[in-house]
Amino acid sequence: MIPQAKIDEIIYAANIEQVIGDYVRLKRRGSNLTGLCPFHTEKSPSFSVSPAKGIFKCFGCGKAGNVVNFIMEHDSLGYVPALKFLAEKFNVEWPQQEFVNVDEEKKQRDEKESLQILNNWANDYFQDILLNNEIGQAIGLSYFESRGFRNETIKKFNLGYSLDSWSAFFDKAIANQFSEDLLFSSGLVKHKEDGKKFDAYRGRVIFPIHNLNGKVIAFAGRYLKKEPNSPKYVNSPETLLYHKSNELYGLYYGKNEIRKQDAVYLVEGYTDVISMHESGVENVVASSGTSLTEGQIRLIKRFTENVTVLFDGDAAGIKASIRGIDMLLEQGLNVRVLTFPDGDDPDSYSQKVGSDAFKNYLETQRQDFIAFKVNLLLADAGNDPIKKANVTREIVESISKIPDSIKRSIFVSECARLMNIDEQILIVELNKLRKQFLTDKEKEYISNDAFEGFVPPEKSHGEQFQELLSDSIIFDDQERDLIRLIINFGDKKIDENESETAASYLLKQILEKEIEIDNPIVTLILEESYSVLQSGNTLDGKFFINHQNPLITTLAANLLAKEYTLSPLWERKASVNLESFFKDIKGDIDSAILHLHIKYINKLIVKNQQLLTPSLSEEDFEIHQHIHMDLIKQRNVLTKKIGTVIVK
Ligand code: CTP
Ligand code: MN
Repeated sequence: MIPQAKIDEIIYAANIEQVIGDYVRLKRRGSNLTGLCPFHTEKSPSFSVSPAKGIFKCFGCGKAGNVVNFIMEHDSLGYVPALKFLAEKFNVEWPQQEFVNVDEEKKQRDEKESLQILNNWANDYFQDILLNNEIGQAIGLSYFESRGFRNETIKKFNLGYSLDSWSAFFDKAIANQFSEDLLFSSGLVKHKEDGKKFDAYRGRVIFPIHNLNGKVIAFAGRYLKKEPNSPKYVNSPETLLYHKSNELYGLYYGKNEIRKQDAVYLVEGYTDVISMHESGVENVVASSGTSLTEGQIRLIKRFTENVTVLFDGDAAGIKASIRGIDMLLEQGLNVRVLTFPDGDDPDSYSQKVGSDAFKNYLETQRQDFIAFKVNLLLADAGNDPIKKANVTREIVESISKIPDSIKRSIFVSECARLMNIDEQILIVELNKLRKQFLTDKEKEYISNDAFEGFVPPEKSHGEQFQELLSDSIIFDDQERDLIRLIINFGDKKIDENESETAASYLLKQILEKEIEIDNPIVTLILEESYSVLQSGNTLDGKFFINHQNPLITTLAANLLAKEYTLSPLWERKASVNLESFFKDIKGDIDSAILHLHIKYINKLIVKNQQLLTPSLSEEDFEIHQHIHMDLIKQRNVLTKKIGTVIVK
């Protein structure tokens, strides 16, 4: 565990505006900053950052939290790595000695640094061979030239050549003080079965792979002559520097243009990327032959939401890869596709037709993905009604993945038109599929009418506060109110004349009345609060905002955000007189507890009724009936009280 003091220190040092500003273009609005939410697709900004509170919140998708949560969410990091990232960024000393596995940490860091040094060195070495060594020039350089790559481009992409020798690279590396272990873990040198070492990339042209910051983190080596049993490419293994599923080839060289054009071309191969640069199209990345991963899609989303997928040649290959595209839709990206004449890929086609014709082709031939899929599948189905029905299902499946409801309905109309079927049929199908996107809890609430008067909170109201935590748990008004009170006013006195704090009063009430709460997050917060009070510490908003459990922080940020932190409306009120606005804390607590209590009794009534079956013995039946009467009586007493406390 990292000591809370250290966490506080890091959060204090981390300038949230600066951190989020690296990912989101923020504009100042009053004391807050707003921008387009990085976690969902939107056209008008509902993402807000409060530097004063140190929190962010999106009124559209409900994501919220502190600076650590932002990094966790955005870069898919765990809590500790996210903290560490911030500590490094803001020069806060990282508590080495606090960790049990200090040595392991240090070893990893050292190894990572050494790997980077080795990669830099190898990168220079391979380039030097290509450009300055006679054999390198004769074989490697002339190969690249034969593919139409200009010298300038070859240098820009750091292309290289590895001599066709078992150990030329290895020997040179050893002479430069690199250890054997390091060479093996980098994948640049390998063992044969008989234990002999050899240069893994020997006789291949080298494509270095750069990360977002331009560091060479891996190498790909393409063979020049086909040999049996030898793969076309040798690729670096996963290392401390290289996680294939989180990298995209070409992103470093394309990112500015991608941002500028707000669009990216997605291709398969290294050579496609380079040839497109040759043709003057620089907003391009390659998935390196495999289907896209979520990490790669997230990476794309940092720069643009508009993706055009360029397919190589044949129809069978295209059909196999269009499934992968649903994932792009699911992540809220706008997807277009483009195919090339049979046998051509972006590389060969651009070389064939030349730069202007190629650019023109890109701009005129791309199609919207859904329309493309409809046409592709319909062509196959012909007039067969069963096949046509299957097509419908497949298309609707793709559409159902699109998170934005407006976009979904546009596609539905478009498809109905293309397929010449009634739009209503598609909508019915679509709604069937959309149901599976509801969480279990939501389904339960929606199908459960046991609680009289319970209305499931409406989802997806952009401007409204969303009580859905990562969309999985629904809070009802009372539960939310309870937590809001404890988070906002936990350390405040319940009223001027009493010394008891709101948190302690609230917890006592719940314990006294023996109210049970199902919502696991509410329970968690109450338990946490209880133990803080037991240990004699104060329980203020900061405790929750900077809590190590991201669920708690997110919730705290959401609830702090709601009333007086981020909402412009409330901000105005708050600036008038925040204190007086919330002065009846005790009344608020009483009201929340009362409603919770009634809800709890209602639940007991339902439970008890379920047990009241004719199969019971007379005696048991009487007991349960008794309980029923008793509960009803209790409920009546409580509901009468509602009039006497302030109802929210
Ligand atoms: N690939 C790979 N290993 C292989 C084959 C392919 O890693 N054995 C990946 C590479 O990232 C490659 C991409 O898949 O760039 C596309 O494969 P392919 O079209 O065969 O290669 P290109 O790089 O396009 O090479 P070329 O144009 O020279 O055929
Ligand atoms: Mn190719």
